Amino acid sequence: MSQKRARNEPETRKMMDKRIQKLSSQRREYFSIPMDESSLAADPIIQFDRWFDEVLRAGQPDPDAMTLSTATAEGVVSARVVLLRDFDHRGFVFFTNYQSRKGRELAVHPRAALTFFWFSHNRQVRIEGTVEQVSIKESEEYFQTRPRGSQLGAWASPQSDEIADRNTLDQSMSEVEQRFKNMPVPCPPFWGGYRVKPERIEFWQGRENRLHDRILYTLHQRVWKISRLAP
Ligand SMILES: Cc1cc2nc3c(=O)[nH]c(=O)nc-3n(C[C@H](O)[C@H](O)[C@H](O)COP(=O)(O)O)c2cc1C
Repeated sequence: MSQKRARNEPETRKMMDKRIQKLSSQRREYFSIPMDESSLAADPIIQFDRWFDEVLRAGQPDPDAMTLSTATAEGVVSARVVLLRDFDHRGFVFFTNYQSRKGRELAVHPRAALTFFWFSHNRQVRIEGTVEQVSIKESEEYFQTRPRGSQLGAWASPQSDEIADRNTLDQSMSEVEQRFKNMPVPCPPFWGGYRVKPERIEFWQGRENRLHDRILYTLHQRVWKISRLAP
């Protein structure tokens, strides 16, 4: 990997000052419908389904995009965006390469946090829990629903590994295209789903004056307890 020389110091400082000005002027008020305990579902999965449905209907782009945070055994945290592909009472499912950085981290520390931000409704949902791989059958079934290009891409990319250049990736894709020419692309053994089994789900509704509503569901011996947090 080539190394770029660091920018000269005063120029960097000027740029940072400008950016701080720009970011601090990025303010908006959150005027939304209040979130009232009496209108909430007793079950957070049902509550999530309601919110997800409302966001879907509002046509917000990528409502299924969520930030997945994982950590190493030493507690070094990393985060990236993945797509929610299924959810029910068993948990929240996404698909990825099991040998990727997140896959390696989940192998040694099977806990994760998921964060959704739904701009259209001033809403955030935070989910925390343990993680397990979905069954091979589930991964294979989902893999078969993906466009062929994405299926080939899963074989071609050693996700998270350092590669020499773009050409290496394109060449790998050409080889995979040849390998699976005129045949269905099977699900790679190193690719599949994870299910985040929630223990804690917070629904955050943006309100005026930063006095947001925060409703937390925590799982205690299979029963969800509901509480309210200060914003
Ligand atoms: C909108 C969006 C959706 C994404 N969806 C996925 C996904 O479902 N699965 C996945 O492995 N990577 C997905 N990515 C790429 C990841 O953010 C990330 O680059 C990749 O998984 C490698 O992460 P890692 O090196 O931390 O394992 C998505 C990225 C964006 C911006």
